[in-house]
Amino acid sequence: MDSASSVHGQWSSRFAYVLAATGAAVGLGNIWKFPYIMGENGGGAFVLVYLLCILLIGIPVMMAEVLIGKAARKSPGKAVEALAVSSGHSANWKYVGWMGVWAGYLILSFYVVIAGWALAYIFYSGQGAFTHRTSEEITALFGALVSEPRTLMFWSFLIIAGTVIVVGKGVQKGLERAVSYMMPALLLLLFVMAGYAVVNGSPVEAFNFMFKPDFSKLTVNGVVVALGHAFFSLSLASGIMTMFGAYLPESTSIAKSSVWIAIADTMVALVAGIAIFPIVFANGMAPEAGPGLIFQALPVAFSQMPAGQLFGTLFFIMLVFAAFTSSIALIESSVAWLVEHHAMSRWAAAALSGGGIWLLSIGTSYSFAEGSWAHFSIGTIQTTYFELLDYLTANIMLPIGGALLAIFVGWMMKTAVLSKMITEPAVLRLWKITLRYVTPLAIIFVFLNLVGVITL
Ligand code: TRP
Repeated sequence: MDSASSVHGQWSSRFAYVLAATGAAVGLGNIWKFPYIMGENGGGAFVLVYLLCILLIGIPVMMAEVLIGKAARKSPGKAVEALAVSSGHSANWKYVGWMGVWAGYLILSFYVVIAGWALAYIFYSGQGAFTHRTSEEITALFGALVSEPRTLMFWSFLIIAGTVIVVGKGVQKGLERAVSYMMPALLLLLFVMAGYAVVNGSPVEAFNFMFKPDFSKLTVNGVVVALGHAFFSLSLASGIMTMFGAYLPESTSIAKSSVWIAIADTMVALVAGIAIFPIVFANGMAPEAGPGLIFQALPVAFSQMPAGQLFGTLFFIMLVFAAFTSSIALIESSVAWLVEHHAMSRWAAAALSGGGIWLLSIGTSYSFAEGSWAHFSIGTIQTTYFELLDYLTANIMLPIGGALLAIFVGWMMKTAVLSKMITEPAVLRLWKITLRYVTPLAIIFVFLNLVGVITL
């Protein structure tokens, strides 16, 4: 995709678009983050709230973002500005677009560190580090990796360098072709892992945990995390869907394609959960282990299963690929911004962006090492650089950006434009009501709860 401010190119088909958007959406969020936040927030009730957030907030906001791109055929900031001005509103709406660029940039700075763990795990697995190990030994292996910040800085450097090279050279197209094989292969392997876990782990406990809501375990913070993750996982409020929408063929239904992307994304997350929790329960591991959960649970399965060394290596290769496609999409907005506003070459812009990401990522690399400077307390709360950054981006910036986008499209844009974009009349009516009322009010309600103004 080029970054010209007016966009004329188009996806070759609706399928190509859905595949590319799913490629950006599916990543560490589905396989790494969803299982561990589900584990930390008590399982079933959290999953239910998450699914509601996808349905009532995620899908309508995705449609709004794609619509902005399709209607303006411009890059995110400029698209919002153009539509605001043409419907008689302030050009300042463009800052909503800019906030997304920043959110995406900050997300990338911790994303590359986790992608670096996955990269290291390709080598661990390939060398047979997990073969015939106990779950304690595997947990210790993870602990050893994350307690070495400099090693993590090395692995994340490799991820950033790869991203910069692909974006700098503008060879995303070639990569997309590779992804069209990798994505289905990753899904297939996840199904194999889920099958293995169900047969050899503790599926009953896992299914009860994941799908039997126990609302006594759900906290207000759990709801905030579920809401934030709906935005994170669908890659919303970071400009990318507007970017994709700008290339959407006239005839493609925004509603249908958004629903498909959301279904695919949610399915990958749920299958990842099914691959992990039966193993967690069968081996006496803790569901609330935190960000290391999949790096501890899956290798236990690889250590026990036939051809586990091969499966493990393949799995982490595909995980790195899935993370890599998301990294490329995440860096793209900042590169486009540098090229447009500072007349930089793509190479210079990609290298500068990547350098900044690496510097920002150092705090995350230090966040998992016991006693490092990246651990601190705010009042009585112990936290880390990573936790703060994750919370600020996913749980605060993305939902606020999403609410503002919903208000912009629902209240500011002309109905004539909307009805030209969403061609199914019944869908248009339902979507508009959701976008005007349900989405912003739900987000405001959740935040008021979080800060204690009202209590659920
Ligand atoms: N959705 C990605 C994942 O689940 C993460 C992400 C958030 C993202 N915002 C994005 C990816 C913007 C690409 C573009 O891993």
